[in-house]
Amino acid sequence: MGTIEVVLGDITAERVDAIVTAANESLLGGGGVDGAIHRAAGPRLAEAGAELAPCEPGKAVATPAFDLAPVRYVIHTVGPVWEGGDQGEDEVLTSCYLTSLHLAAELHVESIAFPAIATGIYGFPTERAAQVATRAVRSLPIIDLIRLVAFDEETCRALTAGLAEPA
Ligand code: APR
Repeated sequence: MGTIEVVLGDITAERVDAIVTAANESLLGGGGVDGAIHRAAGPRLAEAGAELAPCEPGKAVATPAFDLAPVRYVIHTVGPVWEGGDQGEDEVLTSCYLTSLHLAAELHVESIAFPAIATGIYGFPTERAAQVATRAVRSLPIIDLIRLVAFDEETCRALTAGLAEPA
C-alpha cells in the first residue's frame, strides 16, 4: 500500500521518479504548470512530446525528464476543459490520474508528483477536481509514493480535505 500525500509548492522542485504535467494535446508545452515543467526540463521535452502528439484528453504519455534529472520521466496527461460539469469532465479527469499511474507502474516508477490537473487554464473547479483526484489515486495506490502538489493554499486545503474523506 503506497503513501499518498499533499504538499504546497512548485512541482519542478520535486525530487521524484516521475513528474506529471497538465499538458495540451500538442504536448509542445504551454502556460501554467506545463510551461514551468517545459522550462525546467529544457527544449528536448517539447521535441520528445511532438513525436508522441497528439494526446487525447484523459490519456497519458511518458517522455524522459531531460534537464529535470534526477527526475526520470515526465508523464504528459491532458485534462478536460471545464464545460459546466455535465460533459463527462469528471470521468476524463479521473482517467488522467489512473492512466498516469498505470503508465508510471509500467515504467517501475516508485514516486510520482501530480499537479492539480485541469484546475487552472482549463477551469475545472478546485474543490470538485480535488475530490476527483483524491478518489482516483486512492483507488489505485500502485506507486509507493504519490504526491499531490498544490501551487496555492486553496488547492492545498481542497486536496487535504479530499484525502481526509472516508474511503
Ligand atoms: N507547480 C505546481 N503546480 C502548478 C505550477 C507549478 N510550478 N504552476 C501552476 N500550477 C498549478 C495551477 O495553479 C493549477 O492549480 O497547476 C494547476 C493546473 O493549472 P494549469 O497549469 O493551467 O493546467 P490546466 O488547467 O490543466 O490547463 C492546461 O494550460 O499550460 C497550458 O499547455 C497547457 O493548454 C494546457 C492548459
